[in-house]
Amino acid sequence: MVKARKYVVKRYFQGVPKKDDFELVEYELPQLKTGQFSVKAEFISVDPYMRAYGYRRPIPYDQFGFQIGTIIESKNPDFPVGCRVVNHQGWCDYSVVTDLTENHSHVYLLPDLQGLPIELALGALGMPGVTAYFGFLEICKPKAGETVVVSGAAGAVGSIVGQIAKIKGCRVIGFTGSDDKVQWLEKELGFDKAINYKTADVNKALKDAAPKGVDCYFDNVGGELTAAIYKQMNLYGRVALCGCISSYNEDPTTYKTSSLLPLILYKQLKVEGLIVSRWYEPENRWPEAIAALAQWIKQGNIKARSHVTEGLDNLYDAFVGMLAGENMGKALVKV
Ligand SMILES: NC(=O)c1ccc[n+]([C@@H]2O[C@H](COP(=O)([O-])OP(=O)(O)OC[C@H]3O[C@@H](n4cnc5c(N)ncnc54)[C@H](OP(=O)(O)O)[C@@H]3O)[C@@H](O)[C@H]2O)c1
Repeated sequence: MVKARKYVVKRYFQGVPKKDDFELVEYELPQLKTGQFSVKAEFISVDPYMRAYGYRRPIPYDQFGFQIGTIIESKNPDFPVGCRVVNHQGWCDYSVVTDLTENHSHVYLLPDLQGLPIELALGALGMPGVTAYFGFLEICKPKAGETVVVSGAAGAVGSIVGQIAKIKGCRVIGFTGSDDKVQWLEKELGFDKAINYKTADVNKALKDAAPKGVDCYFDNVGGELTAAIYKQMNLYGRVALCGCISSYNEDPTTYKTSSLLPLILYKQLKVEGLIVSRWYEPENRWPEAIAALAQWIKQGNIKARSHVTEGLDNLYDAFVGMLAGENMGKALVKV
C-alpha cells in the first residue's frame, strides 16, 4: 500500500488564501481498476486559476492543478510504468489517475522536450506556454513593426508572449511589479521597455514608450492597469484577454459594467477572451505549440525560467508567493 498526501481545500478562499483554508491529508492509494494508473509526482504547479476557479467546486475539494510525475503502477497500456506523465492531479505526492479529461484539462505522456529540463512541461512547454503561443499569435495576430504591450510580463505566460512578439519583429513593452523584473525583461529577455506598474506614472511611461500608440495588448491582469493601456490603444487594436489576476481575490460572482466599453467602441477594438483548452478540444493542437516553443528555446530565441520552491510542505507558500508576485517565470514546487 502506498501512503499518499494531498491538499484538500476545506473552505472557500476569502481575499488572499489562508494556510488553514487547506488541510494536508494522509491516505492510502486505492487499488487500480482497469484503465487507471498511479503516479509519483516530481514537480507540482502553482497557478493563478487555483485562486480564481475554486468557488466552482463543492467544498471540500482536492486542490487541482498540473503536475509532472512518473507512472509507478498501471492498468492502462497507453500509460506504461516508468514513463513520465503530465497530469492534473493537483497538490499531492502520489495519486491514481482515474479520469483522463478531468476539469477540461488533460493527461498526456511527457512530450519530446528535445533534451530541455522536464519542469518546462509545466511552464513554457506546458499549459502557460501553449496559452502564450496560441493566445498571442491567433488573437493578437501581430505584424512586424507593431507595438505590443504585455501585462504580467515577467510571469509564466507574459514572459513567453513578450519573447514571441520580439521573434515576430514587434516593439514590446512589458508591465511588471518590481525593478528586478524590469531589469530581467529588458536586459535578458530583450523587451524594448519594461515598466514597474507599482512605482511608475503608468500613463506617462506608456506614452513615452509607445509614442505611436499600442496595436496589440496581451492582458494577464485586468484592473486599472488595463484601463490605462486601453486609453492608448490605436484604432482597430487587438486585445487578447488571458487573465484578470488583479481581481482574483475579490468576490468572483459580482460583475460591474466597465468604463472600458466606450474606449472599445470609439477605438473599434477587437477584444477576445481565451481559455487555453480551446486548443485542446475539439482538436488537440498543444503539440504544435510545444514543438515550436522548444525549437525557439533551443535556438536561444526564448529564455524559459522556472521559479522553484522545494517540498510538498511549502506548496501553500509557493502559491501565495506567486499571487503576490515573488516569481520570475513559472512558479512550481519540486517534491
Ligand atoms: N486563459 C487561460 O487559459 C490562461 C492560462 C494561463 C494563465 N492565465 C492567466 O494569465 C495570467 C498570468 O498567469 P501565469 O500563470 O503566467 O502567472 P504569473 O504571471 O507567473 O504569476 C502571477 C503574477 O501576477 C502578477 N500580479 C499579481 N497581482 C497582480 C495585480 N494586482 N496586478 C498586476 N499583476 C499582478 C504578479 O507579478 P507582478 O510582480 O508583475 O505583479 C505575479 O507574479 C493570470 O491572470 C492567469 O489566470 C490564463
